[in-house]
Amino acid sequence: MMQLTIIGLGNQAKSWALNLKDSGFPLRVALRPHSKSIQSAKALGIEVVEIGSKEFYAADFYALLTPDSSHQEFLSEHAPGFKQGAHFLYAHGFSVVTYEFEKKYPHLNHILFAPKSIGTELRNQYLIKGHLGAVYSLEHSSGSPPELEVWLKNLATALGISMGPYKTTFKKETEADLFSEQGLLCSLIPYTAEKMFQHLIENGVEKELAYFECWHELKLIVNAMVEKGPLEFFELISPNALVGAHKGHQRLMKPEMIQNLKSLMTEIQDGTFNAELEASHVEEIRGKIRHFWKNSDLQKTHETLKREQK
Ligand SMILES: NC(=O)c1ccc[n+]([C@@H]2O[C@H](COP(=O)([O-])OP(=O)(O)OC[C@H]3O[C@@H](n4cnc5c(N)ncnc54)[C@H](OP(=O)(O)O)[C@@H]3O)[C@@H](O)[C@H]2O)c1
Repeated sequence: MMQLTIIGLGNQAKSWALNLKDSGFPLRVALRPHSKSIQSAKALGIEVVEIGSKEFYAADFYALLTPDSSHQEFLSEHAPGFKQGAHFLYAHGFSVVTYEFEKKYPHLNHILFAPKSIGTELRNQYLIKGHLGAVYSLEHSSGSPPELEVWLKNLATALGISMGPYKTTFKKETEADLFSEQGLLCSLIPYTAEKMFQHLIENGVEKELAYFECWHELKLIVNAMVEKGPLEFFELISPNALVGAHKGHQRLMKPEMIQNLKSLMTEIQDGTFNAELEASHVEEIRGKIRHFWKNSDLQKTHETLKREQK
């Protein structure tokens, strides 16, 4: 089995490294000379290679698991050093679609291999033998011999992927991923939960109960939705919840909301979001979001209940 060199040891990379190690898949991690992760990688028993060293450039398979915003600069510095035909795996299509690496670095094979999971859950689900999905694309990989597909399937199994990997394109994965983050996973869910939590406590509901209703139960109900599927889920809920669901979604999901959801997708597809991303100061936005959540009653309740957990 060909070894994979994982570049970085952040959220996604750490789970890849641990899952592959536990599955016996050959890997090493490439880090910058002063990376604070060198010690932790070594402590985990993972081989470390220094980015920029001779051995670093000698591999056939890499997974570029550093932030998407670093990919362009990383490749402009290091791409000339890699072997002709070396394979680069990306866990998200964004940088390849935005900067067209396949045109800039045609001596490399650019492969999409995207587990559909936040890094921490990639590890958790592997440990509990849960279900994880993934998609891939070989559209920017010249030749793509059958052995490559076999290698990718072995990689998927070693990572704990039990659904797929299914074929897609870099563009579709990028658009779908951004859309789900903006419309559902990182916006509607946490921010609606916070608004509802706040409204409950303003109505005199104890914060613990409000927390269970709006935050903790999310995990439990989503588990049931995903495990059972939508049809069985709606068979399982109580008549009160059923009638409430019918009323609630009709009240909330007005045509304007659907139109706004669709416009998020349009703005991803027509480049508006990319332009906004280019013009934004990520650290400033991170600061605002951190400030909002740090001061939210939902976060404070979360911290208290976590401390009190038995
Ligand atoms: N976060 C997730 O759970 C998640 C989910 C799905 C897909 N993804 C995808 O996975 C990829 C990695 O995202 P992530 O959130 O896991 O990243 P991350 O945690 O922010 O990555 C941090 C790691 O990247 C290294 N790094 C940063 N800039 C670097 C550079 N210029 N050169 C070399 N190393 C550099 C850091 O090394 P130092 O120690 O030297 O600072 C650190 O080890 C992205 O393509 C992302 O879209 C992530």
